[in-house]
Amino acid sequence: MGDRPSFLSAIRSGLSARAAAVVCLAVGACALGMPPAISADPPAGDRTAVRPERTDADRAAAVEGLRSRYLGEPATWPAPRVDEGVAWRELGLLPPVVHPQANPFGDAKARLGKLWFFDPRLSASGEIACASCHDPAHGWADGRPVSQPSGGTPGRNTPSIRNVAHRSALFWDGRAATLEQQAEEALRNPREMAASDDHVVGLITASPRYRELYAAAFPDRPASLAGVAEAIACYERTVVGGHSRFDDFLRGDATALSDAAILGLDLFRREARCMNCHHGPTFSDDRLHVLGLSFFGKSNEDLGRYRVSGDPADSGRFLTPSLRDVTRTAPLMHSGRFQLSGVLNMYNAGMVRLRRRGPWRDDPLVPVPSRHLGPLGLNRQDLADLAAFLAALEEPPDGERPPQLPVAADIRAAR
Ligand code: HEC
Ligand code: HEC
Repeated sequence: MGDRPSFLSAIRSGLSARAAAVVCLAVGACALGMPPAISADPPAGDRTAVRPERTDADRAAAVEGLRSRYLGEPATWPAPRVDEGVAWRELGLLPPVVHPQANPFGDAKARLGKLWFFDPRLSASGEIACASCHDPAHGWADGRPVSQPSGGTPGRNTPSIRNVAHRSALFWDGRAATLEQQAEEALRNPREMAASDDHVVGLITASPRYRELYAAAFPDRPASLAGVAEAIACYERTVVGGHSRFDDFLRGDATALSDAAILGLDLFRREARCMNCHHGPTFSDDRLHVLGLSFFGKSNEDLGRYRVSGDPADSGRFLTPSLRDVTRTAPLMHSGRFQLSGVLNMYNAGMVRLRRRGPWRDDPLVPVPSRHLGPLGLNRQDLADLAAFLAALEEPPDGERPPQLPVAADIRAAR
């Protein structure tokens, strides 16, 4: 299968799709650590010719037409290239946030939620806050490959919490449907904050300011971990973006996107077929798919949704992440093992397909990649344009600062 560093440097240097396909398969074999018993098949239809590169004059002419086209109403944009049966939604501006009836917005509640989001005293160790991993200074993620691996399963990359108000499935395996449920799990999770009801109630009781804010946010309701989770969820729904250069362009600023980004937008919607999964204002379909990056058969194997459902058909399925602000949340993917250029090269090659062989001949858990993936035939210019478009989804820093935390004099006793 060859020597890993040279394959990796080839991936980084940008290649023809054909070469990238070969390299990716090889890298797949190395990076995914496939033992010899399992081999990578080129994805079906691996015959895509690489699109010829364009001259500067041709690019300029293409951009001119596309820029005015995309400045028009989305309904007049060129039709996206999506496969039959995909219920795609057009890219666009984020709609206003809707707070759920079960947890309506309240000013005191959101302020309380913010304090708790940043307060490490909620954790059993007194050292970890939500913001330790979802740090506004790191695009609301943490910049680490994975967070806190322990307990025999590999850790996962921390997603940004910006715009989570707009998602209908949460976690890389989609196991939480609401932010309330998610916050409660993060609080209780022994690998995250390991908080108990008693501990949380103890902190509130120990702080006059927390007591006062809690009473304002939840009149007539005793302090509880569930209340804390609701307040945090309420605050998270106020953490929204929508100020990227792409958003400015959609609001009519024709100069907000560079020529490369305009070409990249068009590629994203059509030739690169990304809209099969990354669509709508959040750039996610809120569904789970197999890309084939599960490290199947390795010590760092993560079978995604299968870990939750136990259904072999879910082996290797992960939730489509939002691509808003993706340039600030590297390293990428659930495993935190990839950089953007490598990800684009892998998509261009059609990702990796494992052939059932040897000990895995009859193994129903061998992940079967999505039918929406296949070699794309993009050239080096195209890949750079696609990257320029994704960079235009970057949010400006939102200036959120850690708040002054309430004093809780006897918190030690309460813990
Ligand atoms: C130790 C680091 C860490 C801490 C502390 C932490 N998180 Fe997370 N968070 C993660 C990781 C890792 C994931 C992805 C886990 C997975 O998908 O299995 C995640 C996922 C999430 C998600 C889902 C995002 C998405 O797009 O799917 C939300 C929302 C979230 N965390 C909020 C919180 C809140 C609220 C707290 C505090 C109560 C918190 N987190 C504490 C690391 C952390
Ligand atoms: C079959 C559905 C599907 C298609 C098509 C698809 N993606 Fe993805 N994308 C996903 C899923 C699922 C993940 C997360 C996979 C994982 O972590 O194992 C992902 C992850 C990513 C990530 C990493 C994001 C992060 O925060 O870690 C980037 C970047 C990305 N996709 C860009 C693209 C681009 C560009 C295209 C078009 C060339 C594309 N995707 C096509 C489903 C898809």
